[in-house]
Amino acid sequence: MSRHESPRPLGHLPGVSAGAAVPSAPAAGNEVWTVLRLMRWSGEYLQGKGIERGRLDAEHLLAHALGVGRLQLYLQFDRPLEREELERFRPLLKRRAQREPLQYILGRAAFRELDLRVDPRVLIPRPETEVLVEEVLGWAAARGRPELSALDVGTGSGAIALSLAVEGPFSRVVATDASAEALEVAGENAREAGVADVVELRRGSLFEAVGTEEAFDVVVSNPPYVAETEVASLEPEVGAWEPRGALLGGPDGLAVIRAVVAGAGRHVVSGGLLALEMGAGQAASVVEAVESTGTYDDVRVRRDLAGRERVLLARRAPTAVDMNRGTRQA
Ligand SMILES: C[S@@+](CC[C@H](N)C(=O)[O-])C[C@H]1O[C@@H](n2cnc3c(N)ncnc32)[C@H](O)[C@@H]1O
Repeated sequence: MSRHESPRPLGHLPGVSAGAAVPSAPAAGNEVWTVLRLMRWSGEYLQGKGIERGRLDAEHLLAHALGVGRLQLYLQFDRPLEREELERFRPLLKRRAQREPLQYILGRAAFRELDLRVDPRVLIPRPETEVLVEEVLGWAAARGRPELSALDVGTGSGAIALSLAVEGPFSRVVATDASAEALEVAGENAREAGVADVVELRRGSLFEAVGTEEAFDVVVSNPPYVAETEVASLEPEVGAWEPRGALLGGPDGLAVIRAVVAGAGRHVVSGGLLALEMGAGQAASVVEAVESTGTYDDVRVRRDLAGRERVLLARRAPTAVDMNRGTRQA
């Protein structure tokens, strides 16, 4: 999966009617919608709208409308649905048929140990980003220090910053975003996750909201990296619903990543970590950008679960000035 695809894989299934109306309350002709019948019908209806995993999405939506866990639906297949239950479900199904991402309709997205609030103010966190977090947490664990600091540039829902605060030895995480709306969502998530005292949210582009002398053990970022020319190839759930500012990285997709690389050096302590997510096919350019700063050594790239080069990791090399000054090292 990539940023071009919705967080759930979607595709096109031929041969399924896409024209059917969304089911209304049981008709006067004694037509009964049981849980199973509605699940089946709605799954096919969504598949007809090009949603490959229509049945699964229909189950999530029905469970949400009924206020139960999805698997509980399986214990009540033959239960006839009340008119009010159908009325709660119909608008949800309609939204999904219009290719609104499931996570926005449910208002939640799972990310590692977190159950995050999400809505169209923020990008829906992706599994690739879990790999980025895993690498940072692994690096942090290897330091063996209880109090590390991190800067997350472009925090969106707060997925990365909050995961570091919840799962890692991070006593201070500064999370920035250019979008005030995204920071509202991140703030709600930080409170819900119980780490509002660890994660400090700041608004600003790139490093604007970070003091010139402020340095962290880790600078991490999952910046927008879709090329403008690729907008037309985005799945509808992505292109029509997710914030453009979270997706697009200029003409070649690399504009924001390059700017993060250019500015990060002064904000990573000597021996600290720069960790970046990037788009498929961007690794060579990003490695070159990082190496050409002359600031990092031990540059490596980690693949995602689909085998695509996805995460860049680089150690901030100690400079002669750092060593003379005895600057703190990670
Ligand atoms: C791809 S999303 C990542 C969100 C979140 N970190 C995640 O991994 O799910 C990129 C985020 O960077 C923010 N952003 C875009 N350009 C930025 C900039 N120049 N400075 C700071 N944040 C920026 C967007 O608003 C968006 O929230």
